[in-house]
Amino acid sequence: MQKLIQWIDARLPIVEAYEKHMSKYYAPKNFNMWYFFGSLAMLVLVNQLVTGIWLTMSYNPSAEGAFASVEYIMRDVEWGWLLRYLHSTGASAFFVVVYLHMFRGIMYGSYQKPRELIWIFGMLIYLVLMAEAFMGYLLPWGQMSYWGAQVIVNLFGAIPVIGEDLSLWIRGDYLISGITLNRFFALHVVALPIVLLGLVVLHLLALHEVGSNNPEGVDIKKVKDENGIPKDGIPFHPYYTVHDLLGVGVFLFIFCTVVFFFPEMGGLFLEKPNFEPANSLKTPEHIAPVWYFTPFYAMLRAVTVDLFGLSAKFWGVVVMGAAIAILFVLPWLDRSPVRSIRYKGMLSKIALLIFVVSFVILGYLGIVPATEGRTKAAQILTTLYFLYFILMPFYTRMEKTKPVPERVSG
Ligand code: HEM
Repeated sequence: MQKLIQWIDARLPIVEAYEKHMSKYYAPKNFNMWYFFGSLAMLVLVNQLVTGIWLTMSYNPSAEGAFASVEYIMRDVEWGWLLRYLHSTGASAFFVVVYLHMFRGIMYGSYQKPRELIWIFGMLIYLVLMAEAFMGYLLPWGQMSYWGAQVIVNLFGAIPVIGEDLSLWIRGDYLISGITLNRFFALHVVALPIVLLGLVVLHLLALHEVGSNNPEGVDIKKVKDENGIPKDGIPFHPYYTVHDLLGVGVFLFIFCTVVFFFPEMGGLFLEKPNFEPANSLKTPEHIAPVWYFTPFYAMLRAVTVDLFGLSAKFWGVVVMGAAIAILFVLPWLDRSPVRSIRYKGMLSKIALLIFVVSFVILGYLGIVPATEGRTKAAQILTTLYFLYFILMPFYTRMEKTKPVPERVSG
């Protein structure tokens, strides 16, 4: 065994890579449960890839056969029901985990210098993940698959001059059709997963170049021992591999409970109209995207006025795009001398609270049908969402911060 490793190592430095990224990667010793979500995101990614490959073996990507093939997987393919529920619950779990992972980054200022690139790669992952989920949702060819895709692709039609041609180009037809299904299938099972994997590798390489942040935002590389090892760092393996196993255990417990007992999650994870085959002549009474898109959907619907000769729909698309785009520049909006929320001032704490509450309520408003009152609420909450970012350069500089200690305390 030793000889084999030496033979490989002389040709490909696996020992060096193992040491650099595992046994000699010194992570801060004060990670808390918020640091579980990175490894959990990797776990869910693997689950999606493996169950996705097996689903593809029995799925039929055609307008005539897709819906029936999903029913076939659920009823006749051995363990097919489990594969499908692992994949559909996995999609929602992916967003739960990624939202909590992003929130951790925001809370502890992990996007700040020198970790801007980690954040940018993370945001690109988030974008690709949204595209991946959107395209995957068309594949069962149910009523909501069909009409959800119709609504979203039609949004591109609101762009002046090129809009109509653009949505035609995306669909490959005048309506969502089998042609659209085929291209979404190709992108969902081949193209986007490859991009996603590549981005995750870049995300982790960027992370290991500068090292992890921690709940206190203390720079552990400033205090090193005589061997050049950070005094507040511990080797990733075995300490955090074992630590992460606890997160995996708790996660799997919750995940399996959903998979085995509540796979539809009351219509949140698998929407009710999707148990009916797609019908281009019958519009469902109420079209809503899956929960992880609804905060942005609520922002889209919050815009109700035509401006400068352009439709409200166009401005809704702009607002929705801006809501995501602004997250990319977060590292340059935060001017605080400290990273972690623990040492930031009151203004940052209140702003973060308002931001989270706004995002969650917007998520709810995007699920339920719009009424006049709800649209008003969505307008106010969308404004608050943007104010969190727009005012950040000011409140992070104005407020009094607490001094950050030299060493981590816990
Ligand atoms: C497939 C999705 C993703 C995977 C597999 C992934 C994986 C990881 C892993 C394993 C870590 C190190 C462990 C940890 O700090 O939790 C990490 C750190 C980080 N990730 Fe992600 N990530 C994903 C998506 C994202 C997204 C969407 C963002 C933000 C837009 C993001 C931002 C960050 C940041 C800022 C760090 C450094 C955190 C720190 O050191 O405090 N990640 N990621």
